[in-house]
Amino acid sequence: MAKAAAPKLATPTDLPTNELSSVADALNAALANCFALYLKTKNFHWHVSGPHFRDYHLLMDDQAAQIYGITDAIAERVRKTGNVTLRSIGDIARHQSIKDNDASFVSAADMLAELRDDNLKLIENFRKVKELAEEAKDNATSGIVDEWTDQAEERAWFLFEASRKA
Ligand SMILES: [Fe+2]
Repeated sequence: MAKAAAPKLATPTDLPTNELSSVADALNAALANCFALYLKTKNFHWHVSGPHFRDYHLLMDDQAAQIYGITDAIAERVRKTGNVTLRSIGDIARHQSIKDNDASFVSAADMLAELRDDNLKLIENFRKVKELAEEAKDNATSGIVDEWTDQAEERAWFLFEASRKA
């Protein structure tokens, strides 16, 4: 359950508070995973190595920018509906379900596979957001999450195709 917003942060809304609180929880979980995946994608962008270096390095940079690009909109959906969102790196760590990868070396093939799986996890987050937003009649969240889902599906597709051997 989302922590209740401090009275000074309780944005007025006509939608039912309990249901919006569930939407906020799902959005905050997705937001934490976006930050975790953003940093992992940058990590792999910085550390990728091998014959496809240039392609993978550039692909990961594009994907990281796309992930980072939706974080503000996710957080602001939480605030627009009267709840509070993440505040720190520690808050991200407490909410993320996508795991960090601090390994000293990861092969390019393993990077592509791991990022693909992580994007599929993010899609699950977004499907949960969609389901709860529909239940709460939160039309704006329900609408905007479709674009985030489409982008994550595109990233998973590119990562899958880039990982093919032939
Ligand atoms: Fe870079």
